[in-house]
Amino acid sequence: MAMSVTGAGQAVSLPEIARRKGGTPIVCLTAYTTPIARLVDRHCDVALVGDSLGMVLHGLESTLAVTLDMMILHGKAVRRGLERALMVVDLPFGTYEEGPEQAFRNAARVMAETGCAAVKLEGGESMAATIRFLTARGIPVMAHIGLTPQAVNALGGYKVQGRGPDAERVLRDAAAVAEAGAFSVVLEKVTEPLARRITQAIAIPTIGIGASVACDGQVLVIDDMLGVFAGFQPKFVKRYAELGRDAEAAIAAFAEDVRARRFPGPEHIFPEA
Ligand code: KIV
Repeated sequence: MAMSVTGAGQAVSLPEIARRKGGTPIVCLTAYTTPIARLVDRHCDVALVGDSLGMVLHGLESTLAVTLDMMILHGKAVRRGLERALMVVDLPFGTYEEGPEQAFRNAARVMAETGCAAVKLEGGESMAATIRFLTARGIPVMAHIGLTPQAVNALGGYKVQGRGPDAERVLRDAAAVAEAGAFSVVLEKVTEPLARRITQAIAIPTIGIGASVACDGQVLVIDDMLGVFAGFQPKFVKRYAELGRDAEAAIAAFAEDVRARRFPGPEHIFPEA
């Protein structure tokens, strides 16, 4: 069975993630529940409790309405399924942007209540002071730049970021979060040349989603790659399974069996003695 390069039983630490810069790619998937966390734990280095859970689990239109309580509830569930993968929890929209103190208060609550190793927050230069404040006080931060879904309205949609002259802005964001002390940075939906430039320019690992193989690692939303989420399929998603289709076939078969009185069968019932 395939295992992460850290080996069975050995917990993935923050220094281990830092050491993987330019080495064996870091493998990351989102997880929101205990059973999925158990599966992710066997094969991935990082389990991310992403605020994407608002869209893929709760049917929200965007991640904007996700609350801290939702992240904590799912974070606790994921923690129970992990033995070795590094657990990172997203800070949702509105829980950190006001300033470093607000970010610290909410990040500390997330860490204390879920047992995660680090938090993730969206933003580049504008979040550098907050990242510096958190990391100086024992809260490791994974940054997230490029397409930042919590800024979908400001960005005018889920568009590729950093094309043409805009590349310099994203590059500045990457340098700012690295300099502020983030231990890694998610690069979402940026072109391959830009992802390569950023990955070469900064000392911390880049974890790409729609950002090419030039990154130091890759992350996907688990429901996307398993074919569970039917809302839309971004170009950067590779579907490794069609669980949504398989689940519907199973549900249809159950419904037919019940209506035809084929289920429950003799093997499913309890005899008198
Ligand atoms: O919320 C999320 O799942 C994420 C990943 C897509 C990186 O931020």
